[in-house]
Amino acid sequence: MDQLRIIGGQPLSGAVSIAGAKNAGLPQIAAALLSTAPLELTNLPKVSDVANMLRVAGIYGAEVTQDARAVRIDASAIEPREVDYETVRKMRATMLVLAPLLVRFGKARVSLPGGCAIGARPVDMHLKALSALGATVSVEGGYIVADAAAGLTGGRIVLPGPSVGATETALMAATGARGETEIVNAAREPEVVDLAHCLIAMGAEIEGAGTHRILVRGPTQWRAASHHGIPDRIEAGTYAAAVAVAGGQIELVNARLEHMAAACQTLEAMGITLWPSDRGVVVSGTDRRKPAEIATEPYPGFPTDLQAQFMAIACLASGTTIIRETIFENRFMHVPELRRLGADITLSGSTAIVRGGAPLKGAQVMATDLRASVSLVLAGLAAEGETIVNRVYHLDRGYEHLDRKLAQCGAQIERISQ
Ligand code: EPZ
Repeated sequence: MDQLRIIGGQPLSGAVSIAGAKNAGLPQIAAALLSTAPLELTNLPKVSDVANMLRVAGIYGAEVTQDARAVRIDASAIEPREVDYETVRKMRATMLVLAPLLVRFGKARVSLPGGCAIGARPVDMHLKALSALGATVSVEGGYIVADAAAGLTGGRIVLPGPSVGATETALMAATGARGETEIVNAAREPEVVDLAHCLIAMGAEIEGAGTHRILVRGPTQWRAASHHGIPDRIEAGTYAAAVAVAGGQIELVNARLEHMAAACQTLEAMGITLWPSDRGVVVSGTDRRKPAEIATEPYPGFPTDLQAQFMAIACLASGTTIIRETIFENRFMHVPELRRLGADITLSGSTAIVRGGAPLKGAQVMATDLRASVSLVLAGLAAEGETIVNRVYHLDRGYEHLDRKLAQCGAQIERISQ
């Protein structure tokens, strides 16, 4: 398994190009299965989760072709096959194919995604959304079995919470339902809005994406479409955190400041300055980092996917930072590893108390999930001496060439292939 070797202490400079958003691309690949006309996606990031999702589309019989500019998915000849548990277990986003398959075939059987390192991650809200449109849904032997032989009928979906995935399932199902669907308490993440834009390009009638109430009129007359996905606000936030940790100044090319308001507000409270440039966003660090109060929330609040990265900044702040994780029940796996680097962090339930200021010292650390692993890389950029991050495959799920991009900005980091 590959490792990353980092020698801390180098400030960053230059520019990084922010790739397309992984969490926008994954549902859009699933959405391609709704249509008998081809969908072209430009700006998909070259990360393993996207490669896996394209492989899943291929398992159902979609024809996937790609060149340097775009990925083309032709789902005209797909069949209701089955994707094995092993594939779904590795990436829960594969269950986003449930709604498209139900729309196309009137039935679907998809493996129940297990929990994952950050929490149980149930799918009850996805199933509730499908039932509200007339499907009969059950869980049998580790599989979700959905049936709508007479097709789906538009209705009112009230989500118990603004779940990103459940909103995406509801959106895709509603495009195939007869009549109007109202989705209440919808998630407002930019990735949900981007999925709606992709579906509209494909012929869907959707209003209100980005608000808590979305209206969809179906069934959709699908047409061939091309969609350019949004840049990855979490990748951008990660590199902004890298500047906060390592110091220096970099330009985040393609980043969109309007998708990063909560993270920028916290960075500024911690002493970091950001401003828009004609190519994206410039981030400038300081060695006088201030502590902050952080609570993760659904968009437009502070994103849970940046919590671990900002904890690395907090380790270097002059004072105590309080971080509350309100979205997932177990998203502090980076804490024991940050402690190995000398961080002073106390956990109390879903709250982490980070006493900054003690210098970090390089050590061997273990990655456990995508965002926890990148927080260890960030901490390594500031730690004295050598840090080795193991199980780097977690990083490759969601970051395109992370080590190469950081090295190009002056970090002393290399990938050691085992
Ligand atoms: C998406 O996951 C993202 N993944 C996650 O990013 C992100 O952390 C999360 O949204 C929150 O922003 C993708 O988009 C592929 P949720 P999702 O449904 O859709 C509970 C990363 O690092 N819930 O909004 O699974 C759930 O347990 C990943 O890129 C239910 O109870 O998140 C969680 O506590 C990690 N029942 C909360 O809602 C359900 O049916 C939010 O989950 C669905 C969710």
